[in-house]
Amino acid sequence: MQKLIIHGGTPLSGEVYISGAKNAALPILCASLLTRETLRIENVPHLKDVITMMGLLEQIGINISIDKKFGISLTAAHLSSLVAPYEMVKTMRAAILVLGPMLARAGKAKVSLPGGCAIGLRPVDQHIKGLRAMGAKIDIEHGYIHAKANQLIGTHIVMDIVTVTGTENLMMAATLADGTTVLENAAREPEVTDLANCLVSMGAKIYGAGSGIITIEGVKSLHSTTYQVMPDRIETGTFLVAAAASGGEIHLKKTRVDILDAVLDKLVESGAEIESGEDWISLKMNNALKSVSLRTSPYPAFPTDMQAQFMVLNSVAEGTAIITETIFENRFMHAQELKRMSACIEVEGNTAVVRGVTNLDGASVMATDLRASASLVLAGLIAQGETIIDRVYHLDRGYERIEEKLSWLGAKIKRIN
Ligand code: EPU
Repeated sequence: MQKLIIHGGTPLSGEVYISGAKNAALPILCASLLTRETLRIENVPHLKDVITMMGLLEQIGINISIDKKFGISLTAAHLSSLVAPYEMVKTMRAAILVLGPMLARAGKAKVSLPGGCAIGLRPVDQHIKGLRAMGAKIDIEHGYIHAKANQLIGTHIVMDIVTVTGTENLMMAATLADGTTVLENAAREPEVTDLANCLVSMGAKIYGAGSGIITIEGVKSLHSTTYQVMPDRIETGTFLVAAAASGGEIHLKKTRVDILDAVLDKLVESGAEIESGEDWISLKMNNALKSVSLRTSPYPAFPTDMQAQFMVLNSVAEGTAIITETIFENRFMHAQELKRMSACIEVEGNTAVVRGVTNLDGASVMATDLRASASLVLAGLIAQGETIIDRVYHLDRGYERIEEKLSWLGAKIKRIN
């Protein structure tokens, strides 16, 4: 199993580009199921989850070709196997995103239930509820969702909870439904909007994406297009926190500033100086790092996918921060590992109290999920001495060329087998 070895203590400085967003690329890949024609996607990040998703789509019958710049062309002329097997779904929950499009396009789908995961229970009841409301017959048997519908029917769906992939699944299904679907209490995450923009360029009629009410007028068929995936806002935020916590100065290119307000506000509160243009962000840390309390919530509020990274920042900041996690029940696994690096953190239920200490100490730690892994890398970068991170495969699911990019910024980081 691969490990990362980091020698901490160097402030990160320099310039790095941001990759395409994992959580936009995954649903957009699945959108290819909705048409017989070719969907070409650019700016797709080269990540483990993307490779897993392409493997699943190939099993379903999609023809995939990849060019030198990792531009991906997907043609779903014939779907040969309408199944997402347990082996795939258990390694990547986003595989649930084939359910809506397969059902809408082929009238049938069999998708494994994902089950719980390292960060929470993560049920998919809202995906199922929405598809049933659109007329699908759904049975759960032997751990699988068996869905059937000759023709999905547009309807009004009020989602009980804000769910990102739930909104994406239903939005994709509704593009080919008969009539108009209204999704109320829809997720407003930028990745949902990016998927909607791709679907619109394939001929879908979608209004209100990015707001809490999305209206989809079903059409008979979708067509070919070329689409550029948005930049990854969580990768952007992770690099910004790395620079702030290490007292560095960085310039991020090929990113977007308009979708990061909650994160940038917290960085400014922590003492960072930030400048930005439409597609770049610079951060300089001249001041003492101050602790920042935060509460995760659906977009546009503070993202759960940045909570672990800010826990590291708070570990070495002046003062005490209160971090409240409201999205997932079990997303503080990194706290225990950070404590092994001398961080002062008390967790009680969904709240963590972080008292800043002068230094973290390098230690051997274990990654438990994607963002927890990112937080351990950040901790290693600012700790004194050597940090060894085990189970780095979590990191490879969501951060493209992470050690290479960090090395460009002066980090002393290498991967060993
Ligand atoms: N939920 C339900 N029922 C449902 C669906 C969700 O109760 O049918 C609950 C979940 O258990 C959770 C909350 O609703 O407590 C929100 O979950 P959501 O469905 O929004 O999460 P997701 O769609 O499974 C996506 C991202 C996650 C990100 C969350 C929240 C993708 C592929 N994944 O997950 O990304 O944390 O939204 O923003 O888009 C990551 O990249 O590290 C990651 C975990």
